Amino acid sequence: MALDSIVLVLVRWIHFAAAFTVIGAIFTSVIVLTPIMKTLQPDVRGSVTVKLLPRMIRVQIAAALVLMAAGVALAAALGGSDYRVFLNTKWGLAILTGGILTLVMFFNALLIARPTIKRLVKALSHAGEKPPSATTGPPAEVVKLQNTLNRVIPTNFLLALIILFLMGFAAHG
Ligand code: HEM
Repeated sequence: MALDSIVLVLVRWIHFAAAFTVIGAIFTSVIVLTPIMKTLQPDVRGSVTVKLLPRMIRVQIAAALVLMAAGVALAAALGGSDYRVFLNTKWGLAILTGGILTLVMFFNALLIARPTIKRLVKALSHAGEKPPSATTGPPAEVVKLQNTLNRVIPTNFLLALIILFLMGFAAHG
């Protein structure tokens, strides 16, 4: 096997592994964690959120950076030196659209989900310092932040499904 094909196999593998890490984290959030969270007591839900979400978003952002770097390297290697391949072939258009949607997904995570999670963790820590009350629900700020996450995470779930379709289409037609 020539060195350039070994490098290509390696970059492809890195792209796969990073893609499954990002997708795995998003899909697990939507399909497994969100339904389970709804069944937990508010104080348990609060401590799970504080521990789980910051790590989850850090992993997603780091894996998305690796994913994009490997994706661009793969696109450059397979697309050749003529950039018009990304505008006038089905393969190129699928990769280009997938790449643009990946950026939307990435900035959604970096600029909306990450700061929201930071504020949520802070708000939950403050709420935890007050005596628990059975009659009042979670503070309004917590509800607002949770609602933001409940919009951003499913949006990224949908984007990931579309990107996956486009990548599969590019690779297999
Ligand atoms: C900057 C963003 C991205 C770029 C430039 C990119 C580029 C590419 C390229 C060039 C290929 C190879 C296609 C071929 O073999 O002909 C590929 C395959 C693939 N990409 Fe991406 N990609 C990006 C983001 C993503 C994301 C976000 C995901 C996951 C949601 C993803 C999942 C995959 C998968 C699973 C394959 C393999 C498809 C298969 O062989 O069936 N990619 N990508």
